[in-house]
Amino acid sequence: MQKTPVIMDVDTGVDDACALLLAALDPTVDLRAVTCVGGNTDVDQVTRNTLAVLEIAGREDVVVARGAQRPLIERAVHARHVHGDDGMGDLGWVHTQRDPDPRHAVELLRDVLGAATEPITLVPTAPMTNIALLARTYPEALRGLGRIVFMGGAAQRGNATASAEFNVFHDPEATAIVLDVAAERGIPVTMYGLDVFYDPTVTRAQAKELIASGGDTARLAGELIEFQCERFGSEQATIGDAGAVCAVIDPDGIGTTALPVRVELTGTWSRGRTIVDVRDWSGDLAHDPHGRADAMVDVALEVDARRYADLWLSTVDP
Ligand code: BDR
Ligand code: CA
Repeated sequence: MQKTPVIMDVDTGVDDACALLLAALDPTVDLRAVTCVGGNTDVDQVTRNTLAVLEIAGREDVVVARGAQRPLIERAVHARHVHGDDGMGDLGWVHTQRDPDPRHAVELLRDVLGAATEPITLVPTAPMTNIALLARTYPEALRGLGRIVFMGGAAQRGNATASAEFNVFHDPEATAIVLDVAAERGIPVTMYGLDVFYDPTVTRAQAKELIASGGDTARLAGELIEFQCERFGSEQATIGDAGAVCAVIDPDGIGTTALPVRVELTGTWSRGRTIVDVRDWSGDLAHDPHGRADAMVDVALEVDARRYADLWLSTVDP
């Protein structure tokens, strides 16, 4: 079977945990490494959560490294109001005997990408601090990158603020650096942002079925969904970051449009917004003092939500 070599960069995180389960268990994904960054919670907790999820999935073989604890310029914020105090819904799953790799995430990325004999797909589902640091510290390592599929940004909406999505808002400079470097080097980038992020959902009833089915990964997956249903008072919850992994496994499940994207780095109300240029009249562009953004990104604007939710459900309950 043809496997896609993948590195994930995460801030685990309830929905990062959903994404890790999928990447760890899907037979078409060759998960080469996971790097951790501060985001939903602090980087030490993120690292413990990540190790715990991989252990539950029986993937102690996957190397995990701790990365940046705070963004390049911003102070660290967190999203414990969404993900619970331990970042994993305070469900009691965070036990691990394993230590992370002694290398910093940036060094692990350098080594794994440097050793790659085939292009690796990088899947950041977190603020892109580690990736920006990699690009500036070991740019030669980017030769090992085949493409980037990241969760972040949006053409139409925000969540951390009315304008900006959390991962980009958390470290806007990092996202700007990564988009720039990818454009310079011709690395294809897919943005799995808020335009599609909330659509693939699992119902509370399906979560209960997962929990009842007995396997550890299914129980964890079910409890993560149930936690979100409780927290948001809803009968269904998104698989969130796991959708970005679905986009690697089953790219035909999203509809993308190649569009110029910039990150707003100033802006009183809009810092961290991804400005997705959907204009289609060249006359506007010719008179635009900013010119067209260099970064062309495949922006996911549509998703076959049922297809991705089913992919996730069938994989986490093997
Ligand atoms: C993103 O922010 C985090 O809270 C989630 O894990 C996801 O990566 C959604 O905006
Ligand atoms: Ca995340």
